[in-house]
Amino acid sequence: MGRRPRLMERFAAFLPIGVDTPPLGLGEGFTPLVHARTLGRAIGVPQLFLKVEGQNPTGSFKDRGMVVAVAKALEEGARAVICASTGNTSASAAAYAASAGIEAVIVLPRGKIAAGKMLQGFAAGARVVAIEGNFDDALRIVREMTAEPDPRHPLALVNSVNPYRLEGQKTAAFEVCEDLGGAPDYLAIPVGNAGNISAYWRGFKEYRDIGVIETTPRMIGFQAAGASPLVQGHEFDDPQTIASAIRIGRPASGQLALAARDESGGLIDAVSDDEILAAYGDIARLEGIFCEPASAASVAGVRKAAAEGRIDPGATIVAVLTGLGLKDPDTGMSLATAPIEAEPTAGSVRAALGW
Ligand SMILES: Cc1ncc(COP(=O)(O)O)c(C=O)c1O
Repeated sequence: MGRRPRLMERFAAFLPIGVDTPPLGLGEGFTPLVHARTLGRAIGVPQLFLKVEGQNPTGSFKDRGMVVAVAKALEEGARAVICASTGNTSASAAAYAASAGIEAVIVLPRGKIAAGKMLQGFAAGARVVAIEGNFDDALRIVREMTAEPDPRHPLALVNSVNPYRLEGQKTAAFEVCEDLGGAPDYLAIPVGNAGNISAYWRGFKEYRDIGVIETTPRMIGFQAAGASPLVQGHEFDDPQTIASAIRIGRPASGQLALAARDESGGLIDAVSDDEILAAYGDIARLEGIFCEPASAASVAGVRKAAAEGRIDPGATIVAVLTGLGLKDPDTGMSLATAPIEAEPTAGSVRAALGW
């Protein structure tokens, strides 16, 4: 029996890798596409599918791009990687750097990272620098630090401005097409720094160009209302949302995202924190999938667009759930209720349940 290929092996023909690229891999990719029948019916789009990216090794889609970025960094002689992060990039960078045997340095906005993501960085041995500022400040700093090569500290920037990141992330679009046997009509996705929507669009276009799919989906991206520069048409100096992963006021790949929207005939809209939290709870309760708040922006957006008649309700829609719910236990507690108390007997548990 053959082993399952690594992500980089499986899609090698589409990736900028060669025989000198180290064969890194922690089992990224191959994430499930789940037909969300109950949730889809509840929000009026029965052909709703969820791409469950929280099942990547560090619990988010970042791993698809990080494996390529860290492998290329190694190939090019880096001894460390550095990134700014709202949490998931740092968790992923720390894990792949550990696996590659190089150092990870992560620059974070102090006090604004979900607990699980912080823990992942520390657990993998990354050096964590907390700054007084937001994600956009952190990204500015790491870009400045890597603007000129420093022969004393060969260092690779592994934010999504690193071109290898988007190359790896586009593989999710390939998997969606393979699972559906073609492209969906719509691809719904949360938008923060705007790398992922751009990566998916690239993936769909590449599959169309070589004839694997005949059509491409409309790309429908959703920002949190308090951090919606691409919707409002101006940068946000102080972005605010409960969905910390998309709390970004200056999206580095904003132009690519707008191009994806326009070329695909899609849209980029904003959803409120209440809409995000409602979707977050519904995805867990109706489909059994616990995603992180930012991920639920995709489903919140589909619900809003369907209610406004902006998408065809009979269409096949894939909503990307970008990260795992366990990463953000503090927000997760909003879904919890106190346990029912009972004595340690079956009768008492039955009685407590009202049976
Ligand atoms: C869980 C999650 N969802 C969505 C996003 C947004 O992705 P992008 O910044 O590529 O737009 C991020 C980015 O950190 C994320 O961690």
